[in-house]
Amino acid sequence: MSARQKYRLLTSVIVPRPIGWLSTRSAAGVSNLAPFSYFGAFASDPMLIGASIGSRGDEPKDSLTNIRDTGVFCANMVTERHLEVMNQTAGDYPAAVSEFEAAGVPEGQATEIDAPFVADCPVVLECRLFKEVDLGGASTTLVIGEVLAVRLGAETEELWDDDFLDVSSLKPVGRLWAGNYSLVDNIQRADRPRIDRDTGEEL
Ligand SMILES: Cc1cc2nc3c(=O)[nH]c(=O)nc-3n(C[C@H](O)[C@H](O)[C@H](O)COP(=O)(O)O)c2cc1C
Repeated sequence: MSARQKYRLLTSVIVPRPIGWLSTRSAAGVSNLAPFSYFGAFASDPMLIGASIGSRGDEPKDSLTNIRDTGVFCANMVTERHLEVMNQTAGDYPAAVSEFEAAGVPEGQATEIDAPFVADCPVVLECRLFKEVDLGGASTTLVIGEVLAVRLGAETEELWDDDFLDVSSLKPVGRLWAGNYSLVDNIQRADRPRIDRDTGEEL
């Protein structure tokens, strides 16, 4: 398969993917915002999340350059109201242009780390770079971040009672293939079996 065929097949097989809308700041002080759907959660204690960032030609994408330079980033979680503007920030803007300004996204300043975040985003994870992994091939790099703070917007705090967050009210967006996205409107429940490890019998 060609690289294009592999990309197209894999991104229509592993679906839906959450979107990490990463906000960073360059060494020159320019705020940057871009979405990544090779994105996931890997551990809870410590909380580790990661995004895989490809290259632009022979150059690293601005998000990766900034994470390398500053050692920090915010992952803004994409919900329905931000779908269009998130897509806008994926444009090939020069490093000197802030996608916050280009796409009209309100910007806040994180408290645990020195990075910008999407001010009206319901959930933002403030992360410190934990590990960078070279994924080889076409210069793809996995950045794993340790979540130092979780910011919940005022409305989102009401969806959280120190337990699971109310996901149907949060309205997260998942990426399918190309410009296709999934919304959460039909949650199916399946309780896990409780098996006695000694007998193999269901409890
Ligand atoms: C929904 C969505 C998901 C994306 N996922 C990725 C990804 O996982 N990895 C990647 O390298 N680019 C991904 N892109 C493309 C980047 O967002 C795009 O190249 C962006 O311009 C990078 O910006 P930067 O140079 O400011 O870091 C995605 C684009 C969209 C719209």
